Amino acid sequence: MPAISASASGKLILCGEHAVVYGKPAIAIPVFDILTNVKILARPTATTTDTVITAPKIALKTELSRLAENHPIKRTIDLVLNSLRADHLPSCEIIINSSIPPAAGLGSSASTTVALIRAVSSFMGHPLENEKINEIAFEIETIHHGTPSGIDNTVITYAKPIYFRKGNPFELLDVKQNISLIIADSGIKSSTSKVVSEVRSHWEKEPDQYNSFFDQIQEICNKVKQDIKTGDLVSLGNQLTLNHILLREMQISCPELDQLVEAAMKSGALGAKLSGGGQGGNMLALVTPENKEKVIEALRNAGAVNTINTCVPSDKGSIV
Ligand code: PMV
Repeated sequence: MPAISASASGKLILCGEHAVVYGKPAIAIPVFDILTNVKILARPTATTTDTVITAPKIALKTELSRLAENHPIKRTIDLVLNSLRADHLPSCEIIINSSIPPAAGLGSSASTTVALIRAVSSFMGHPLENEKINEIAFEIETIHHGTPSGIDNTVITYAKPIYFRKGNPFELLDVKQNISLIIADSGIKSSTSKVVSEVRSHWEKEPDQYNSFFDQIQEICNKVKQDIKTGDLVSLGNQLTLNHILLREMQISCPELDQLVEAAMKSGALGAKLSGGGQGGNMLALVTPENKEKVIEALRNAGAVNTINTCVPSDKGSIV
């Protein structure tokens, strides 16, 4: 049997982080420049029936039977086999490679799960549909993150920008113009769950103030959705920057992120904001093909420890 290979992208929250926890919308995009790849090689001559799992990035090399029942890899494989009504995986080697930085708000766990589901179900001869992939990936996200909103697994499964609101059907967004973005890592480690719980205590102390922030962010998300559909990149940039200003007022930013946002704007970005949990981690800058090199240089000079140049292609399909 030939090797099976499946990939899944990373992800970025464009707008609506934190407010999404309170039932407001958020928009996320797939990031195709960082990927997880899962390769499966059959082992027809193996002396044991066990499956070997190799994931060099997390220094994992083990037999599947040695993983705990609720290990995300083991649980993913079990859920795929269950949904195919299969009782075992034929002996094989599963090799997981990823260029997505872990714990950086770029969707590394959901990407691994989606690629693994695709590879295992294809290896079994019955590639699963996106709806099922998304359902399994959400269940695995709960092992990783407790009570995830589901935005990561959804955007990565469907590989298109999504407008997402907890508990509601998501919308896939049509993209009129290429959206070129630079993602910059502040180098500051931050815990999303810590920031989420800080926001909750601010909200409990000042409900009117924070509800008003969430309402304003909702309005921004609705405008961003329109701008993506109509291809109005100038308005899109303005909305992203407004979202950052609100996040800063909500104490979700930090001096390093603010400095990166300022540097991006000064060097000609159309908009810039922190992305994800905040108080560290990544920010994004909306750029044009003409100014992107200048923005990358400015971000590096302002302290970015890494930059990723990405583009959400328009539905016409051309990446500039
Ligand atoms: O750090 P990330 O990219 O996983 O984003 C967290 C987004 C939050 O809205 C802060 C939390 C959540 O569960 O949606």
